Amino acid sequence: MDIEAYLKEKSGLVNPYLKSYFERPLPASVPSVIREAMSYSIMAGGKRLRPILALASYEACGGRPEDIVPCASALEVIHTYSLIHDDLPAMDNDDMRRGRPTNHKVFGEAMAILAGDALLTEAFLMVLDTDGKAGRDALMGAIRELAQASGVGGMVGGQVQDIISEGAEPDPETLHFIHRHKTGALIAASVRIGGILAGADEAVMAALTEYGENLGLAFQIVDDVLDVKGDASVMGKPTGSDQQKKKMTYPALYGVDDSMKKAGELIDRAVDALKPLGEGSEPLREIARYIISRNS
Ligand code: IPE
Ligand code: IPE
Ligand code: MG
Ligand code: MG
Ligand code: MG
Repeated sequence: MDIEAYLKEKSGLVNPYLKSYFERPLPASVPSVIREAMSYSIMAGGKRLRPILALASYEACGGRPEDIVPCASALEVIHTYSLIHDDLPAMDNDDMRRGRPTNHKVFGEAMAILAGDALLTEAFLMVLDTDGKAGRDALMGAIRELAQASGVGGMVGGQVQDIISEGAEPDPETLHFIHRHKTGALIAASVRIGGILAGADEAVMAALTEYGENLGLAFQIVDDVLDVKGDASVMGKPTGSDQQKKKMTYPALYGVDDSMKKAGELIDRAVDALKPLGEGSEPLREIARYIISRNS
């Protein structure tokens, strides 16, 4: 299958929804700058990997991707908030994101913090836009999954460990914890949410979880490698940022070649995990292969 065409088709479901959502008028009394700051980062592009994973996983479970676009898009909204905050001077202090100056460079730090806060909150309203198509229990399950993966037990917890580990001697357990949480959790949740909304049984959920967790870890390892070896103009964000901040990364502990080897093994495991799913899981397989070969 043509994975590039697949990714384009699925972003084609998410992007118009996000555009119209963030172009909705705010109550007249709310200053328009906050909507500008939110839209600036949401509409800057990005691969839309997390919503695409949710759509692909829902499809693998027999659903119609068109039916869960709001819930899938909410994953992108949370991800975008995490990027705005990740780039702040108090965190990674980066100047470029998605090919544009970072949010705080344009709107100032206070507005960037508030845009992140607003996006996080908006994401949960967005999930509720998936009305009718998923049952109430499935929606509740998706909300729980999203909150768990984003909060202290997930992304935020990983970001905390990432920050307090700056400058520390890398060790395998801490590194694994950081990557599994800061990035792996939301990616695994994206895959699982597709299954939850489709009402997948336990065996399928276990397969999707195994796939998502391996994929999520591999994704962050490749991100680390791209920070060393990638092309900033293709990625739309700087390279060398991790070394400058003395981040605990896979290349810092294992070197680039062994890091890529580990990522490859994780991708093989992710693909293997999909065995219990049928033909419909081909896009998930192809996404896994794309993740290791990506250059942005
Ligand atoms: C970057 O994520 C931050 C990480 C969690 C590694 P992506 O590489 O998915 O960034 P976008 O969404 O395409 O900009
Ligand atoms: C970010 O990890 C993970 C998030 C939760 C945003 P990085 O700090 O490595 O992401 P980039 O390289 O800045 O995109
Ligand atoms: Mg970071
Ligand atoms: Mg960063
Ligand atoms: Mg990085």
